[in-house]
Amino acid sequence: MMEDGFVIAIDGPAGAGKSTISRLLAKRLGITYLDTGAMYRAVALAAKRKNMDMDDRTGLGALCRSLDLYFDTTKDPPRLLLGEEDITGLIRTPEMDMLASRVSAIKEVREAMTQLQRKMARQAKRVVAEGRDMGTVVFPDARFKFFLTASLAERAKRRYRERIDRGERVEESTVQQEIKLRDEQDQNRSLAPLKPAQDAVIIDTTDLSVDQVLERISQEISMTNTS
Ligand code: DC
Repeated sequence: MMEDGFVIAIDGPAGAGKSTISRLLAKRLGITYLDTGAMYRAVALAAKRKNMDMDDRTGLGALCRSLDLYFDTTKDPPRLLLGEEDITGLIRTPEMDMLASRVSAIKEVREAMTQLQRKMARQAKRVVAEGRDMGTVVFPDARFKFFLTASLAERAKRRYRERIDRGERVEESTVQQEIKLRDEQDQNRSLAPLKPAQDAVIIDTTDLSVDQVLERISQEISMTNTS
């Protein structure tokens, strides 16, 4: 069996299936799910509420260090609390998609969030950590590293369905453009850009079901485990 304390890192672009897979994997293994994208979204929301200048790096860094963020993992799916307030739904908007991507390129923001993510992982001991730089920067020694991808068309289709299900009215082509822009922004930033770690297992989920991806990951984990 797995010994105490380990990280399973799951990185990849928007719509590749990271959140669904990470949540279900954590549940299956009975360990904690750490959604680091939600943390950058919380920073974006807090900065917007305070009307902050998005170029005020020092101010944004200070804001990050003052945020009282907490994942309530007793709920399924987990809820994200900012102080006493449940912000889980508020951070899932197209505006927060883009603003989170923007603030996440700032050094001061990344430093504060990286520290907080490591602390959360230390406290939880066993985590599935999902994001863009889990395997490359935040947890370079993660026991297992996966990078999920899918074609742009498939990722756009998945996000489009999610948004329609939430009652939004949006065109699939608009969703595709937004995802493309966000990917470019996340891949081309100088700090912790979106890319697979050298030792990550890359899984293209374009033609795979959620169960198939989970199976693939579980196989990798048990193979490494017994070898
Ligand atoms: O995974 P997500 O779509 O909720 O992430 C929102 C944004 O946050 C994403 O566009 C880039 C940023 N992010 C990041 O820079 N590093 C992470 N580990 C997770 C997310």
